[in-house]
Amino acid sequence: MRLITGTVLALFGMGLGSTAAGAEDDFTKVIRPFLAAHCVKCHGEQKPAGKVRLDNLTGDARTESDRLLAIREQIRDGLMPPVKETRPDPAHIQAVVNWTIKQTGGRAGRLPSQGNLIPHELLFGKPASAGAAPAPRIWRLSPDGYQGFLGDLGRGKNLAGVVQPFTLMPERGIKDFAGLYTIDEPSTEILLRNAETIVEAQTAHELKDGKVQGKNGSVRELAALMDPAAAPSKSQLAAAVQLQFKLALGRTGSDEEVARFIGLYERCRKVSNSPGAVKTMLQAVLLRTDAMFRSELGSGAAVNGRRMLAPEELAVALSLALADRREPQIVLAAQKGELRTREQAASHVGRMLDDPRLEKPRILKFFREYFDYANAANVFKDRPKTFVHEPRQLIADTDRLVLHIVAADKDVFRQLLTTPTSFVNYSLAKNKQTGKDEGKPGVVLNPNNNKGQKGVESIYGLEEWPREQPAVLPENTRLGILMQPSWLVAYSTNFDNDPVRRGRWVRERLLGGTVPDLPIGVAAQVPDDAHRTFRDRLTVTRDARCWKCHQRMDELGLPFENFDHFGRFRATETVLDLDATAKHVDKKGKSLGPVTREAELNTAGAIADSGDPKLDGPVADPRGMLRKLADSERARQVFVRHAFRFFLGRNETLADARALQDADRAYVESGGSFKALVTALLTSDSFLNRSVPAGDSR
Ligand code: HEC
Ligand code: HEC
Repeated sequence: MRLITGTVLALFGMGLGSTAAGAEDDFTKVIRPFLAAHCVKCHGEQKPAGKVRLDNLTGDARTESDRLLAIREQIRDGLMPPVKETRPDPAHIQAVVNWTIKQTGGRAGRLPSQGNLIPHELLFGKPASAGAAPAPRIWRLSPDGYQGFLGDLGRGKNLAGVVQPFTLMPERGIKDFAGLYTIDEPSTEILLRNAETIVEAQTAHELKDGKVQGKNGSVRELAALMDPAAAPSKSQLAAAVQLQFKLALGRTGSDEEVARFIGLYERCRKVSNSPGAVKTMLQAVLLRTDAMFRSELGSGAAVNGRRMLAPEELAVALSLALADRREPQIVLAAQKGELRTREQAASHVGRMLDDPRLEKPRILKFFREYFDYANAANVFKDRPKTFVHEPRQLIADTDRLVLHIVAADKDVFRQLLTTPTSFVNYSLAKNKQTGKDEGKPGVVLNPNNNKGQKGVESIYGLEEWPREQPAVLPENTRLGILMQPSWLVAYSTNFDNDPVRRGRWVRERLLGGTVPDLPIGVAAQVPDDAHRTFRDRLTVTRDARCWKCHQRMDELGLPFENFDHFGRFRATETVLDLDATAKHVDKKGKSLGPVTREAELNTAGAIADSGDPKLDGPVADPRGMLRKLADSERARQVFVRHAFRFFLGRNETLADARALQDADRAYVESGGSFKALVTALLTSDSFLNRSVPAGDSR
């Protein structure tokens, strides 16, 4: 636990509860009357329903935040008061919701999946002015960020034995939020062992005729200090510390920092030989808090209760927003003190985004987490007899389509939802003769293993592998990422489509709505009647007990019944023919196996209660639904909200309304440029500034 210093722990507690001025007043005037009118008759002192009492609230978020959050969820999602009761006035509901958001401040919706708890209208409803700056924070490296750290140490190939110390939560969607992860005891132990392994590799050497020789893959300057007979000089030690700083942190250490590490060497020297003390010193640099955490405290000068991130902090924040490692040029600029203004930050963001040689894996990662199509690889399916199912290839095709759309950088959101083109079983390989990269089929059928099976292109509705890629797919079949086989498979079960979770995706990630979690104890199953269409079987959720939640999902997911659970387009649905099966018997009456028939397919659905009256209404098929959504201002803004969460590593709050609106405007005014959107986010006040904690007089 040595790594987690007092400051780190103190930070986690920051910005949680807040008592906004006038909150008590609002409680008496707005909240208490609301509860009294609509809730207390069932949630009073005597036998409170669901064991929740609402008659004794005082409105203090520090002690009642759980109840306040529960109230908000219930009324926002329209679950309480129960349907038979008088509906509260919508404006009154909104006032209560807003109040609970204010009261619970940073705690509200800290998980990525709770981001939509802030009503869309409050963020985009009217032009926002600058809000309060977010609290100082630190952000633990992601697993990929740790990998990048190892890469920067430059000796990746000799780091056998180094173990990944970090994980992210397994839930779908955006995962890497600052504030969700700390360094716990087990990861601390791994980090300590890793530091030993890394330094062993850096200093690997042999003694030949009493002379030290660095082994292959070691860092020459560091291995040279391993002579047990000759203790290094102070200046050699300082150079070693500086080199380790450069490798691990991408910057030089200050005189004071270097002196501290040399001090550590000297203390160790009293109990161990010189090589041992050097190793400890080098390990300590690797274990620095700022190597494992991105510091975003805001150490610049305070102006109006806010401070900009210090140049070094900003360099790391911007590097890791786009890539998994520190970008040398921006780190250098920070060291020269050139990263002190928004304009300077913007010019570096522009440079990094425009530089094709600079890898920016976080861009694709955003789309992978937003759409979640890569989950296709985790849905197990029996091997189909008539075609091959290779989810990894389907995912690779979608990755490529996303990158293709992002590279064109025009009308990106609409293209993602409605492009009629797709990569189809595509991979790139070097042509040995020309030396150029060329497209070729990704999965090639093997005549022995794939007898009678069609290739991956058949999933896309093509007979032959298209040479021109991205290929235009058969008309009126599929559009955009949500009709890519990868996405459809990711949102399917082992044997069926999953309209509920598909609809949930649309509700949450395009409409910005919420769905209460599936309650424990509900049998979330459709009847196993193979003779009925899935749509027909899903009518179980029309029961009022279920429909209160399922009306938010099912109608948005059912249009995707236009595809089977492998992602193949279909015009009918194959179901069991009970009569024909009953008759399909041999002379002795023994069954000869099931007989199927093609049932009529219904791809209708509806958008309801979306918050945008223009959107609401029936849809005939998934293409019509996605075209409508691609035209929607609200859906676009919800997309912007998700980009905000990913690139800022937290949920938006009311104070971020300005940053969100600016980013949306930058996107629209640039003709739908994702680059413009990202640049706006990464140079917003919400990204650049931090509040000055009370009592801090730096
Ligand atoms: C007619 C009676 C009735 C009224 C009025 C009523 N509730 Fe409930 N409430 C219930 C019952 C019954 C339960 C427990 C079963 C359930 O969750 O459906 C419950 C459960 C709850 C829960 C716990 C839910 C959970 O999943 O743990 C909350 C929170 C709640 N109500 C809030 C409210 C609020 C806020 C109001 C007023 C806007 C309200 N209720 C009005 C009957 C009522
Ligand atoms: C409080 C809200 C709520 C209620 C009430 C509710 N559900 Fe659900 N249900 C959900 C959510 C949310 C999901 C999606 C779960 C997920 O994303 O994994 C779901 C998923 C399902 C699924 C799909 C499971 C899958 O594998 O994707 C079925 C089937 C289902 N529910 C049936 C029912 C039935 C039947 C009832 C009534 C008896 C019911 N649910 C009541 C919220 C609810």
